[in-house]
Amino acid sequence: LKTQNFPNVPDTDYADISHRQEIQQALQRVRQQLGKTYLPVINGEFVQTENYAESLNPSNFSEQVGRIGLISIEQADQAIAAAKAAFPAWKKTPARDRATIIRRAGDLMEQRREDLIAWMVLETGKTVREADPEVSEAIDFCHYYADEMERLDSGVAYDFPGETNRYHYQPRGISLIISPWNFPLAIPVGMTVASLVAGNCTLLKPAEVSSIIGSKIAEILLEAGIPNGVFQFVPGKGATVGAHMVKHRDVHMITFTGSQEVGCRIYREAAELQPGQKHLKRVIAEMGGKNAVIVDESADLDQAVQGVVQSAFGYSGQKCSACSRVIVLEPIYELFLARLVEATRSLNLGNTELPGTKVGPVIDANAQTRIKEYIEKGRLQSPVALEMSAPVGGYFVGPVIFRDVLLDHTIAQEEIFGPVLAVMQATSFDQAIAIANGTNYALTGGLYSRTPSHIEQAQQEFEVGNLYINRGITGAIVARQPFGGFKLSGVGSKAGGPDYLLQFLEPRVITENI
Ligand code: SER
Repeated sequence: LKTQNFPNVPDTDYADISHRQEIQQALQRVRQQLGKTYLPVINGEFVQTENYAESLNPSNFSEQVGRIGLISIEQADQAIAAAKAAFPAWKKTPARDRATIIRRAGDLMEQRREDLIAWMVLETGKTVREADPEVSEAIDFCHYYADEMERLDSGVAYDFPGETNRYHYQPRGISLIISPWNFPLAIPVGMTVASLVAGNCTLLKPAEVSSIIGSKIAEILLEAGIPNGVFQFVPGKGATVGAHMVKHRDVHMITFTGSQEVGCRIYREAAELQPGQKHLKRVIAEMGGKNAVIVDESADLDQAVQGVVQSAFGYSGQKCSACSRVIVLEPIYELFLARLVEATRSLNLGNTELPGTKVGPVIDANAQTRIKEYIEKGRLQSPVALEMSAPVGGYFVGPVIFRDVLLDHTIAQEEIFGPVLAVMQATSFDQAIAIANGTNYALTGGLYSRTPSHIEQAQQEFEVGNLYINRGITGAIVARQPFGGFKLSGVGSKAGGPDYLLQFLEPRVITENI
């Protein structure tokens, strides 16, 4: 096996009181900037728009974080035309120069770490301890993809006597990024800088509810020196403007992270040739999960309880990597469940600005309603082991644990994207694996066990893109746990891994007879 060593940036050590103070100061600083209006960037200019969306603080929805200008269809066309005009020069820009700009963007994020954290706390209801590693991840993406592009740029020589054969990569062209709100910094940064460093002119359409963090990304990329037209910030309505850009004949690729429903629609719409379109579009779709952790009778239960609680309820379960099913072997079922319930009950719920909070709100009113509907559906099929009450004033949903859930129950099959955990019983390890694999998804999975044969069986048979043994199943680190799934979780793309950039490139071979 080849060993890879990438120097990930460290997270902040909050045991140090000065770092805790810096965060409180950043929260105050950012709070003074609430209520501003943020505009799209088309061809290097901030442009006025006819429509705006409000972005609210999910911990306190009477507080407006800001307003975001939403582009029209005509402005989307202008952005795509500007990208097209900027492409020839960006394609010719040496990879090392593109990489320098992207590394500089990463360095700017490090300088603004506390402010970026404060924006995430206020706009998306993250806790500081969830937001801090997200800044590290975004910086790592910048540095890692810059290194990767320089590596790939050297190409391969398949020379033969009398003939040179040079294999190299070129960018695809115009690239649209459609990003989610749940990792409002790391995911859009990763997708965008991969596309840019590979030489593509790139349009970022952020999720509406996290578009102010999106505009912070845009500011940083422009300040780092991305030329006009090469990067454009195009917040807009997904169903209209987003769909229009996906179908646009001049767009070469779409990189999406979000729900399975939208991902499948983009895949379908991108496949249709538009009049005058002379290429097939590449779609990278990273979608949901219905991730399971198996706990067998040999597991260290302290470790298992803590890992499951963190994976299920961190950021209120709003991670595609989150644990939403825990499959427990029959001999320890009751014991594990009792400890899981007690550990969950001890979580502090509330406003994520307060340092003791472990579980904050969900993102918006729609999410709150949808999750509550799933809880009601769950109640019809399985007993409730724990239901915590939620604070008022924000979009809070208290964690809920269902017990004795069966594989065909709705809450064992559908992605809820909230703090709802299904506990399921298995009578054998084979059955546990069968339950774990019994959904349409294959994103993350976990096993707590000290039985070597079970660990080996899980490695062979547990069908997920990221399998974690004896640890939590969220929080993949760039170039350590390249992240992404298959089946209906996505196209098998691994963010933060060695294959990721290849998707943004076209390989060519030039043969010369000498
Ligand atoms: N990469 C994130 C995680 O591992 C999910 O997007 O939690």
